[in-house]
Amino acid sequence: MKKSVTVVPTGFSWVALPLTGARERFAGRSERSKFSLVLLGRHAATFSTVSAMKRHSPVGLVGHSNGGSAQQTAIRSARVSVASFRKYVITGSASGIGLATRHLLEAQGHHVIGADIHNAEVIADLGTPEGRADLVEQVERKSGGSIDAVLAVAGVDIPGPATAAINYYGAVATLQGLRPLLLKSSAPRAVAVSSITSVHPYDEQLLNMLLNGTEEQALERARDASYVYATSKRALSRWIRRNAINADWAASGIPLNALAPGLVKTELLARLFEDPDKKRAVSAGTPMPLGGPYEPSAAAEFLAWLASEKNGHMTGQTIFIDGGADAVIRGDSVW
Ligand SMILES: NC(=O)c1ccc[n+]([C@@H]2O[C@H](COP(=O)([O-])OP(=O)(O)OC[C@H]3O[C@@H](n4cnc5c(N)ncnc54)[C@H](O)[C@@H]3O)[C@@H](O)[C@H]2O)c1
Repeated sequence: MKKSVTVVPTGFSWVALPLTGARERFAGRSERSKFSLVLLGRHAATFSTVSAMKRHSPVGLVGHSNGGSAQQTAIRSARVSVASFRKYVITGSASGIGLATRHLLEAQGHHVIGADIHNAEVIADLGTPEGRADLVEQVERKSGGSIDAVLAVAGVDIPGPATAAINYYGAVATLQGLRPLLLKSSAPRAVAVSSITSVHPYDEQLLNMLLNGTEEQALERARDASYVYATSKRALSRWIRRNAINADWAASGIPLNALAPGLVKTELLARLFEDPDKKRAVSAGTPMPLGGPYEPSAAAEFLAWLASEKNGHMTGQTIFIDGGADAVIRGDSVW
């Protein structure tokens, strides 16, 4: 749905108004009053705070302005496309790549529902079936039943089954569980965060159990298996490749892709680098001739594109933003 609106900067916030009819009604308001008003056609809604408007507005908050009174700045009109304001769910939103993506999308005026085990609108543990069900139930409630994109970013790299439970089952449950809410969007998108380790050595038995067995079997295997993190990410990328082209996703108009970062400067990497031996092994396993480890904001840029309306035709892919690591590791073997 594309609709032209006039953006009127007031003393407090920018308010989206339709092109006709609303300007006069707006003109009498005080510059200091902390309200936001959205008028669409004949319908008006008043919200007491900007965040309330962002949550409920079908138009979305366009920006902030401190300058001038409503009278002085009254009609500095600009045409914007309201279709660019979207509702996103990001798991792992409290830190690292998820947090950087949240900041980027919010700066663009989008509405983000963050999910994490702390510091988020939705508190849910993606390591358990109950936590995953809870995520879906809470997002359903907090989103009003529809979202435009889901970004399954949450992940850990710790020894043992929790890594398989969160990185694979948590991500898949997020994508599958929120798919019905995506169907209500005119431009739905789904994205997960895999890893360069998805092309590293892996445990064949664990991979098979993740993709074809029960969670109980897989987590049992993950207790003793090597390469649990790499295997969980390989399974996630393979799940996306298999499922993106089926009726639930492609035929439903939902591009489904993964980002595979190289080394990104986040808490997760800092924890790995605390151990000098691990730091050496991780750095050697992910050679990044283009720029080395990078800031999470660089990953966020591409995640935001994958989850935007701009990506209409790419699906089933795992895209490496890795400073060249995949090209070094796999060389000519791909083509
Ligand atoms: N940092 C890297 O070098 C790197 C490289 C490749 C892939 N990745 C992947 O990127 C994603 C984001 O990682 P990051 O580097 O930003 O790490 P991070 O530790 O900064 O952030 C991860 C977030 O996930 C959340 N989380 C952990 N367990 C959870 C659970 N059970 N339920 C819900 N949320 C949970 C954490 O609380 C945290 O906010 C992960 O999937 C990770 O595997 C990271």
